[in-house]
Amino acid sequence: MKAAVYTRFGPPEVISLREVPKPVPAQDEVLIQVTATTVTSAECAMRRGRPLWGRIIIGLRRPRRRMRVLGTEVAGRVVAAGAKVTRFRPGDEVFGFTGFRLGANAEYVCLPQKASLQLKPVNVDFGQAAAVVDGASTALHFLSKAGIRRGQRVLVYGASGSIGTYAVQLAKHLGAHVTAVCGPGNVGLVRELGADEVIDYTKGDYTRARYDIVFDTLGKTSFRRARAALGPRGRYAVTTGLHNMFLSVLTRRVVSGMSVEKNQALELIKSLVEAGQLRIVIDRRYGFDQLAEAHRHVETGHKRGNVVVDVAAVAAT
Ligand SMILES: NC(=O)c1ccc[n+]([C@@H]2O[C@H](COP(=O)([O-])OP(=O)(O)OC[C@H]3O[C@@H](n4cnc5c(N)ncnc54)[C@H](OP(=O)(O)O)[C@@H]3O)[C@@H](O)[C@H]2O)c1
Repeated sequence: MKAAVYTRFGPPEVISLREVPKPVPAQDEVLIQVTATTVTSAECAMRRGRPLWGRIIIGLRRPRRRMRVLGTEVAGRVVAAGAKVTRFRPGDEVFGFTGFRLGANAEYVCLPQKASLQLKPVNVDFGQAAAVVDGASTALHFLSKAGIRRGQRVLVYGASGSIGTYAVQLAKHLGAHVTAVCGPGNVGLVRELGADEVIDYTKGDYTRARYDIVFDTLGKTSFRRARAALGPRGRYAVTTGLHNMFLSVLTRRVVSGMSVEKNQALELIKSLVEAGQLRIVIDRRYGFDQLAEAHRHVETGHKRGNVVVDVAAVAAT
């Protein structure tokens, strides 16, 4: 099968399409034929081998052998199932998250049936399904961990990215009053997503008002700064930064860490998508042979929502 492989850390050009052995599902695994996957900011960082501490997981001098095919979000069809699989059967259309197994930037990927995998929402295509996996589940994870409640005031910092576009919608869905911080070109988008108030990060200062939760989806603000905008019980939730992980050990007011187990979240996300209550923002779609280009775009740090890679389109040619 074809897979997008990288064997050393570096610029987008280190990724190339290669022939690799097709995976064989173990007894408790399903084999998924990938129709669509994505390129995320986190994967661009892995490809660069940055931050350096991340290499403890992905490989010190070069990517570990089992992590040389990137891709965490997947949507496709189950084409084979191990003897012990009861949750899925061949023909099922699924969407899910491979986590540290990675491997979704390939024509086929195996996942344990207990992985973060659900039947795909019926009303969206595979590309849209892949693009709702990580951003939406991560947004839900951090909002829940920060203890979001109906009627609270929530600030979403970085509201136009993958996590941000879902965080605005999910915080609204959970009954919060949402203020979104984004760039001037995305004010209209975040309003459409339901933000009650919008602050342009090139002009406004979010610390002039008070919030129950400041959700920093990008790590571009800080607890130090957010503290000025939080009441005494307010929480700062942040998706990145080793220092923030340490801070979260020192104070319960900082919520950090990783969103890894996504099965329950995907169930809710599927139902919200099917009910038309969660919009999936797709910035660009690329062919499987344009992966390096997709990385270049994501790496600018200015994508809107999500970037999809259509794998099956190339596989069929
Ligand atoms: N902890 C976890 O479990 C977990 C899970 C997934 C991802 N992550 C991490 O979460 C981070 C965010 O990922 P993402 O995919 O949501 O990001 P993203 O989609 O790459 O974010 C891009 C967006 O950020 C906006 N932006 C750039 N600079 C900004 C600023 N100074 N203020 C406000 N907005 C700004 C850009 O808008 P403009 O063009 O207008 O600037 C763009 O729309 C990544 O570092 C990723 O590694 C963590």
